[in-house]
Amino acid sequence: MKEHQVTFNFADGVSRSLAVAEGTSILDAALAAEIPLLHQCRSGSCSSCVAQLAGGEANTRPGASSTLLASEYANGQRLLCVCQAQSDCSFDLAYGSEVGAGVAVQVNAFIDSVERIASNVVRLTLELADGDWLEFRPGQFMQIEVPGFGVLRSYSPASTLASLPKLEFLVRLLPGGAMSSFLEEQAQPDQVLSLSGPYGAFFLREEKRRAPHIFVAGGTGLAPILSMIDSLRQVSGRKPPMLLSFGCAVPEALFCLDEIELRKQWLPTLEARICVDREASAGLHPGSPVSALREGDVSTDSVAYLCGPQPMIDAATRRLIELGIDPANIFAEQFVPSH
Ligand code: FES
Repeated sequence: MKEHQVTFNFADGVSRSLAVAEGTSILDAALAAEIPLLHQCRSGSCSSCVAQLAGGEANTRPGASSTLLASEYANGQRLLCVCQAQSDCSFDLAYGSEVGAGVAVQVNAFIDSVERIASNVVRLTLELADGDWLEFRPGQFMQIEVPGFGVLRSYSPASTLASLPKLEFLVRLLPGGAMSSFLEEQAQPDQVLSLSGPYGAFFLREEKRRAPHIFVAGGTGLAPILSMIDSLRQVSGRKPPMLLSFGCAVPEALFCLDEIELRKQWLPTLEARICVDREASAGLHPGSPVSALREGDVSTDSVAYLCGPQPMIDAATRRLIELGIDPANIFAEQFVPSH
């Protein structure tokens, strides 16, 4: 079978190459050769394996699903798990060669507390079992097995490494949802949960931490963003300007407002805009967190992190590009509610 040379250029300057047979998933071939590419679902649905085609031809396997927008595909973005090489080609990766080398681990954690913090959001605090440990980058997610349901659900910690062995998650309650039913009806302090991680390519880019930051969060998409803001706060040195635009549908769905207020006091460079689609009262921005973005928020070197429903991410991406951000400095994670 015909082979093509595929080269991966990591953000830290490291390059790795291998020969990939035509018709083979580029991700599968790279992982078999122990090239540390980020991935998770291996089926085109999580976007963890996204890369930028820098030269040559490589296309999505016919019939494969892909979360990429047509415009992203046209701009050269590819999901490597469902991508095949049609010629020698090269890809630029937005992360360093050491990032994907961190292997996900499985650990046990005890439930510390389950606390309702909004009409449809619960704060779940866990503590890793003695002898168990896992590390993560702010923004990455973990999978938690829902006891009694035999299913996995993905959540990003709202906490940081500094809080370990404690981990804090924000869980959106969905009527009839497996995790929602468990948390509302069965969860008890000290109950043991099994979780694995870290996963995902959505994480704070250390090398850009001095740039102005824009965070756009919808609903519990706030969790990884809080972890990022706290991580920036915990690093010594001057803090970058940060803008957080966070929104929910209505005021009673909002949560963590005290935590955001506290962070504004700790971080004078942090500005927060709290948004609601409906019933906005004084102090709240009427409309989506994207509509709260305006001229002057973005500078050419700004870096943006977006987490929320896909329509919010698409709208925020369009708006930020319109305001002048470099598209390469936008990092996003779709928040998919699962029952
Ligand atoms: S690994 Fe999930 S989209 Fe490729």
